[in-house]
Amino acid sequence: MPIYMQSRSPPKHFRRHGRRNCLIGIVVLIVVAAAITVPLLLTKRSRSRESDTDPDLGTTDRAILGHNGSELTLGDGTSMIYVNPFGGSWAYDPTDPFAPGGQAQEWSKRVGENWVWGEDVARGVNLGGWLVTEPFIVPALYEKWLTNSNNITVSDEWTLILAMGDEAESEFEKHYSTFITEADFAEIAAAGLNWVRIPVPFWAIETRGDEPFLAGACWNYFLKGINWARKYGLRIFLDLHSLPGSQNGWNHSGKFGSVNFMHGTMGIANAQRTLTYLKIITQFISQEQYRDVVPMLGIVNEILFGTVGPVPTQSFYHAAYQAIREVTGLGAGKGPYIVIHDGFQGPLHWEGFLAGSDRVAIDQHPYLAFMDDHSPPEIMARKPCELWATGTNRSQSAFGVTLAGEFSSAINNCGHWLNGFNPEPAGYDCAFWNAWETYDQRTIDILKQVSLAHMDALTNYFFWTWKIDNSTVLGTSSSPMWNYKLGLERGWIPKDPREAVGHCASVLESSQPFDGRFPTTATGGAGAGMLDPTQAVLHAFPPNVMEPSLSDSQIGFLPAYTPTGSMKTLPVPTFTEAPDIDAGNGWTNSEDSQLAYVEIAGCGYPNNWDAVNAPVPTSRCI
Ligand SMILES: *[C@@H]1O[C@H](CO)[C@@H](O)[C@H](O)[C@H]1NC(C)=O
Ligand SMILES: *[C@@H]1O[C@H](CO)[C@@H](O)[C@H](O)[C@H]1NC(C)=O
Ligand SMILES: *[C@@H]1O[C@H](CO)[C@@H](O)[C@H](O)[C@H]1NC(C)=O
Ligand SMILES: *[C@@H]1O[C@H](CO)[C@@H](O)[C@H](O)[C@H]1NC(C)=O
Ligand SMILES: *[C@@H]1O[C@H](CO)[C@@H](O)[C@H](O)[C@H]1NC(C)=O
Repeated sequence: MPIYMQSRSPPKHFRRHGRRNCLIGIVVLIVVAAAITVPLLLTKRSRSRESDTDPDLGTTDRAILGHNGSELTLGDGTSMIYVNPFGGSWAYDPTDPFAPGGQAQEWSKRVGENWVWGEDVARGVNLGGWLVTEPFIVPALYEKWLTNSNNITVSDEWTLILAMGDEAESEFEKHYSTFITEADFAEIAAAGLNWVRIPVPFWAIETRGDEPFLAGACWNYFLKGINWARKYGLRIFLDLHSLPGSQNGWNHSGKFGSVNFMHGTMGIANAQRTLTYLKIITQFISQEQYRDVVPMLGIVNEILFGTVGPVPTQSFYHAAYQAIREVTGLGAGKGPYIVIHDGFQGPLHWEGFLAGSDRVAIDQHPYLAFMDDHSPPEIMARKPCELWATGTNRSQSAFGVTLAGEFSSAINNCGHWLNGFNPEPAGYDCAFWNAWETYDQRTIDILKQVSLAHMDALTNYFFWTWKIDNSTVLGTSSSPMWNYKLGLERGWIPKDPREAVGHCASVLESSQPFDGRFPTTATGGAGAGMLDPTQAVLHAFPPNVMEPSLSDSQIGFLPAYTPTGSMKTLPVPTFTEAPDIDAGNGWTNSEDSQLAYVEIAGCGYPNNWDAVNAPVPTSRCI
């Protein structure tokens, strides 16, 4: 029974109570009994570790690993058959929850093994609409409250919660616990994918003032997400999607309206608050229990580059980089990759930015849907290759890890509430594109070409989004070209995403493969963190230019916070079957002593969310 002699115990320091005291005889008995009752497929995995001498026999009557066709127990106690046509395996021992995790497919690294950018390919989906809601992804959640006794005009999560009033908490708990469940993680692995990008709002940590968001509620579900991702072999790109004051004024930033992040009178204060949140998140995900599952952190989703301006945007990126690396230290394996958004400028725009920085990746969100391009579908299907393939590969060599944190198969912006509660766009036959039940084979085939083109052009990607919920008004789901799960079922998403490899070379009749060689610093190699000094000066924080055109001295007088508050710590999960496991304390580096940015007593602050043109003080309040 050599399989039992190889333990999948985690490194010793996770376990407060070893089980070394078991009598060998009892061990042998349990092993024999287990071997009889547990089918081979479902037994502890074979895995060579240094701790082989200390087999953890925990609960040998229950499967802790399985391949295709195995029965598995979900966290809620129900069971299901694990389906994975790609040689993947799930792995989870409830008595040892931080042991190395599952393997999404035979070609993907098991969670716990070292991911190598340039060799390993990230193919993923977003879990959009889950921890940050959007009307077009979860229409039913919004539809129920459009008319409400609080007379609120609902347009975003802020106003949705006000409309729900006392029922907000229960409504959101229901949404979080049903929209994305453990089964989704298993299905994502079965779809041939190995990563998820999870948008997370700042209110996962806290709210301040009159912000109505549910503070901390979604964090509990992110913790579940970590557990499930580990179990099914998926890695998580955590994206800070919604920032204080709003970084883009779009509804998915939490509040529809103005941009108060690095913009306007509260721009610096909101950015300081964000730096605090980025530190708190980094402290959490850099803990050894979680870092293998969450190796990427996106600092700002879709900053409105044109409004905020290049200088303030880059200044904040630099400040966030410093704040995060103060927590993690420098070099491969030290905390997450830091992902910056390209501000819709294309990744090549960022060549040379923060040269020498340690493990900064660039995130592009190329959407055909919003290009107002009315070419026929056959022409649209070529565009991802024509527009993005060579730029993406050049950016990998020139800048570093280049991701498409979002894209979809949509060739137009048709879809229920895709453009807010506005009517559908003119100039497209939206009735046709919305009616996915009646797509003919030709339509499905051409949309599949669109999907393949994106996948190959973007290489390391995250489709937006895994699923679109039904609308109660329509009685079905809308925005089909944004719905990965539906596309898989109906045929416009490939069953095996590797089918896309080489697609653009045949469309373009040429290819320029990326050779896998990033700048050394981009993956934490030689020189990582030796920031080009001119870059450091150029992108100092706070910046010397800010919109709407504030003078140098005015920027100095803007309301600012002071780093003297106590740092919040994100809670760690608890495990009923492993009550003594060391789940960390939420904080990996106690040496990073910077405190939280908070208000300076006695200084007045305008509304964080509505201060673009608030009067700028004529002196600095300290
Ligand atoms: C996976 O398991 C399912 C359910 O047991 C079975 O129908 C299917 O044929 C299996 N597929 C592979 C590739 O083994
Ligand atoms: C909502 O509006 C209606 C009609 O305008 C009014 O009768 C009602 O008092 C309002 N309710 C609240 C809570 O403001
Ligand atoms: C949401 O954001 C979009 C732009 O992203 C905007 O057009 C729309 O009006 C917003 N509001 C709602 C309710 O969706
Ligand atoms: C959504 O609508 C479809 C009909 O298009 C139905 O088959 C499906 O069960 C619905 N899903 C949910 C979660 O209600
Ligand atoms: C870009 O490089 C990848 C290898 O990383 C390759 O698969 C792909 O075909 C290349 N794209 C083009 C258009 O050459």
